[in-house]
Amino acid sequence: MYFCYMNATASKPTFAKVTPEIISQFVETVGANHVFISSEDKEKYGRDETENLFYEPEVVLRPKNTEQISAIMKICHQHRIPVTPRGGGTGLSGGALPHLGGVVLSTERLNQILEIDERNLQVTTEPGVITQVLQEAVKEKGLFYPPDPSSKGSCFIGGNIAENSGGPKAVKYGVVKDYVLNLEVVLPTGEVIWTGSNVLKNVTGYNLTQLMVGSEGTLGIVTKIVLKLIPHPKFDLLMLVPFYSLEKASEAVSAIFRAGFTPSALELVEINALQIVSKMVDSHVVPVTDDIAAHLIIEVDGNNMDVLMQEMEAIAEVLTQFEAGEIFFADDAQQKAELWKLRRRAAEAVKLKGYTIEEDTVVPRANLPQLIAGVKAIGKKHQFNVVCYGHAGDGNLHVRIHKPGSANSASDPAMVEGLRELFHLVHDLGGTISGEHGIGLVQKGYMDIVFQETHFRLMRAIKQAFDPHGILNPGKIFDMPLA
Ligand code: LAC
Ligand code: ZN
Repeated sequence: MYFCYMNATASKPTFAKVTPEIISQFVETVGANHVFISSEDKEKYGRDETENLFYEPEVVLRPKNTEQISAIMKICHQHRIPVTPRGGGTGLSGGALPHLGGVVLSTERLNQILEIDERNLQVTTEPGVITQVLQEAVKEKGLFYPPDPSSKGSCFIGGNIAENSGGPKAVKYGVVKDYVLNLEVVLPTGEVIWTGSNVLKNVTGYNLTQLMVGSEGTLGIVTKIVLKLIPHPKFDLLMLVPFYSLEKASEAVSAIFRAGFTPSALELVEINALQIVSKMVDSHVVPVTDDIAAHLIIEVDGNNMDVLMQEMEAIAEVLTQFEAGEIFFADDAQQKAELWKLRRRAAEAVKLKGYTIEEDTVVPRANLPQLIAGVKAIGKKHQFNVVCYGHAGDGNLHVRIHKPGSANSASDPAMVEGLRELFHLVHDLGGTISGEHGIGLVQKGYMDIVFQETHFRLMRAIKQAFDPHGILNPGKIFDMPLA
């Protein structure tokens, strides 16, 4: 669907167009096979997984290495051509969409794991490696890279750095930022730096490594990544717990931690989402009955099976106070995989059913029941159908919205009003508007709810320092004032 994002024009800077002369320079840099100019070739680079949005780039470039990316950035910096970096294209905030035209720079050919350092428990990788491929490669050496976004089978590790991704394991193991030690970055000017050192502790100057993490491809293009690894836990146990009320399910979440347990995953899935995804993947592993309102998926992991069994029993005991139904224990690897498939494919399934708009709210964990109650009330008031799922243990709730007639959050003023109400609620509950998907294009218009002018002044000054001509992923997170 072709669609003009309403905020995109608010401070649209004037950029140069990509001319035939500039195309020739790109061809010289990356080779003709990796310069796409036909609409057919460019089609998939104008979309990601965000709502139903499409913006055709002027040109798509597929460089192979740091030197080529540096050369591209020098050309674009000189001519003031916007560049939108792109990883696996699984983003949910429009961060990889070239809404101001210019170049889409795909990192898909920087797809090598460069070194697994078993002495120091580190891996050095290029950004275009699929996250799951990286995880499996280090697992073969007994090592663990925990961050596991639902899209791990297709997202790129570079995109995960850009978005500071999370996923189910974050509740015990933390998010991407907790594993990034050092980054090679091509700056918007074409200069190349390493941000830090391959060490576990570092207070040498400002932390440019962490500044890059979660900066949504607006400050530089990451070309090499050094990640910390940990030993892979030997065992895990998984259970699915039904609840007759959504309220009780959400109340149970913080009680588990208060009772002294830290599960390696604690996910909530509302029944509508589970029904839709079970149908889509034709799964019958979970008995889905009408009296159930939501499930918690709870995993524990570690190196001692007896301890894990005791933990699961103790958690189950805690849950009896919240009127949980009969618990389903995943017996073997196949059942576990099936259960995780249901959870991981929830977003895709409900999107296909018309829940096209996804929000990524996050509140302090104990405030989850108020968030869920508020979400439902806002949905009712604004006539949205709302379905919730997500990383309950982190207080990170994905709110999927279906409003007949509204495919995009920006195309419907009533939707914008409802979303503003939602984000005010999140803010009032001590939370914020994105936990792991980023702000990108579609959440940009709500940043004023959580930040004041002082924050924007600081962020714009940082952007200006890295990107004096504002060419790298322009118009994402916040707008720059007109020059
Ligand atoms: C998930 C993605 C949408 O948790 O973040 O499924
Ligand atoms: Zn998620």
